[in-house]
Amino acid sequence: SAIAVIVVAAGSGTRLGHAEPKAFVPLGPGTVLSVAVDSVLAMRETPHLVLVVPVDRVESTRSSFAPIAEAAGAELVVVAGGATRQESVAGGLAVLPASVDTVLVHDAARALAPALLFDEVVGAVRARRRGIVPALDVVDTVKRVSDDGRVLETVDRSALRAVQTPQGFPRASLDHAYATAHEEFTDDAALVASAGLVVDAVPGDVRAFKITVPADLHRAEQLVAERAA
Ligand code: CTP
Ligand code: MG
Repeated sequence: SAIAVIVVAAGSGTRLGHAEPKAFVPLGPGTVLSVAVDSVLAMRETPHLVLVVPVDRVESTRSSFAPIAEAAGAELVVVAGGATRQESVAGGLAVLPASVDTVLVHDAARALAPALLFDEVVGAVRARRRGIVPALDVVDTVKRVSDDGRVLETVDRSALRAVQTPQGFPRASLDHAYATAHEEFTDDAALVASAGLVVDAVPGDVRAFKITVPADLHRAEQLVAERAA
């Protein structure tokens, strides 16, 4: 039974505000995408690797990552993304080999997510045969606020979680959910849940934070430097 990891890296990174698309911004000795791929290739079980990138980056990504994937013994496929994250994931799903039965979807922007987190998600998908999302407790006090900025109430945060990637699914569940989805969702777990399928949360990892704004890139640079030291 084979695993595939789809790394979605086709966004432009508007909020980061860099000249390059976010996944191609320098990070440590490589790029946001290469740091993300390092974790994927360090998984206990080598997965099929699918990189979803901007259409004008397909060829260059293929040539720069082919040697790294080959050295790790991973099959590599690079495809062009779409206008939304959901379209980009669908593009990755469309090229999975038939042998794949467990699929992880990961944001390239969560470049520092450790290999162990991927292994834990794979283990949970296999053991429970359902969708699995890594999630962290919400630490801030959360308030519901009206359109005009008035604080209405404090939300009980004990039942709230901030979810991350990699999110893992039995391949059939993800294929089914994508085939039947008629609206946009912000993550794969929401899309799978909308198809009536069960998704469980497992403990996330603070290092799986998403590089969104410049301060996040700064934090990522510090973590990469600490890791190398
Ligand atoms: N993504 C993608 N295809 C899209 C949009 C997003 O593959 N059409 C990917 C991004 O590359 C990123 C992940 O989805 O790895 C999470 O999206 P986000 O952090 O929002 O990245 P961007 O959309 O690039 O950033 P922004 O929203 O600031 O433009
Ligand atoms: Mg975005």
